[in-house]
Amino acid sequence: MIYTKILGTGSYVPSHVVTNTDLEKIVETSDAWIRSRTGIESRRISVDEQTSDLAYEAAIRAIEDAQIDPETIDLLIVATVTADHPFPGVSQMLQRRLNLKPLTAFDINAACTGFVYALNIADKMIMSGAFHRALIIGAETLSKITDFEDRNTCVLFADGAGAMVLGTSEVPQIKQVVTYAKGDLEHLLLMDGYPLKKDLKTPDFKLPFIQMQGAEVFKFASSVLPTVVNELLEKSGHTLEDIDLIVAHQANLRIIDKASRILKFPLEKMYTNIDRYGNTSAASVPLAIDEAIREGKLKKGDLFITVAFGAGLTWGGAIIEY
Ligand code: ACO
Repeated sequence: MIYTKILGTGSYVPSHVVTNTDLEKIVETSDAWIRSRTGIESRRISVDEQTSDLAYEAAIRAIEDAQIDPETIDLLIVATVTADHPFPGVSQMLQRRLNLKPLTAFDINAACTGFVYALNIADKMIMSGAFHRALIIGAETLSKITDFEDRNTCVLFADGAGAMVLGTSEVPQIKQVVTYAKGDLEHLLLMDGYPLKKDLKTPDFKLPFIQMQGAEVFKFASSVLPTVVNELLEKSGHTLEDIDLIVAHQANLRIIDKASRILKFPLEKMYTNIDRYGNTSAASVPLAIDEAIREGKLKKGDLFITVAFGAGLTWGGAIIEY
């Protein structure tokens, strides 16, 4: 039986820091409101790097960390809702920039759950025996699709990238991965696309932005996070006592705090970096996992759970021995 394990991780964020005080100058908000309602203190906004540039930097770091020959990578998946272009995909652009051999490379869109979807797909493709080494990336420039006149959303979303190299293992280190989607609540979080060309005329086209019913999404996220943790524990035969760290999607500190209380799991064992990066959608989970490793909060042999949720609505998670 072939299983999957993590060989290396990497992350990258743009250098430009936007603080809550900076946002006070463009929308009616306050540092105190943003901190207390979300836990965010600052975020990174890209001024001159596209999603593929952030993804490239994260990928280079993950490949270095894995200490592998990039030639051995045979699968590349990029989770993003903010690709540089509708086509080619970021994954195909990266094949060239990373000098990889011709390989299976595709982008996926599962919003903030995108990285967990990429992990699930890569895990199963490796377990099938058809692929041996995968590079999976979550990368976003959400600032491109954020309306900086809408205080409900512009204080939350930001830019970044995280990457992971996966390889084969004789023992199941990625123990369980689950992913779900349910479209009946799609209206809670969405972004309009291109309009159809009625009468074959080019219509007036206003740039679309993220629209979100925050309080409803909050309710969904707060209930799904503990539910996924319990499902993963049940499926893997573990208990919460076995878990060294939970790395949840960094959407709101209050969502993480609430999950810790529902699960009766210590808040200090729930990793957070939302204070520095805000919500980076598909990049959030791999960026947090990579930082947890660099900070020594996740060590070789540790058992951790990651959970994400987002537009679609989508949700999912994984239980992994690092
Ligand atoms: N500054 C000041 N006031 C604000 C701001 C702001 N930036 N944003 C909203 N408000 C106001 C609202 O207008 C509202 O005022 P009103 O009562 O006069 O109408 C008041 O604050 C309360 O609004 P709520 O939406 O109820 O505030 P809430 O406490 O729920 O916090 C928030 C809003 C932070 C958006 C929260 O609901 C949340 O985090 N939701 C989940 C968001 C999320 O997880 N999204 C992403 C998941 S998927 C993905 O990442 C793509």
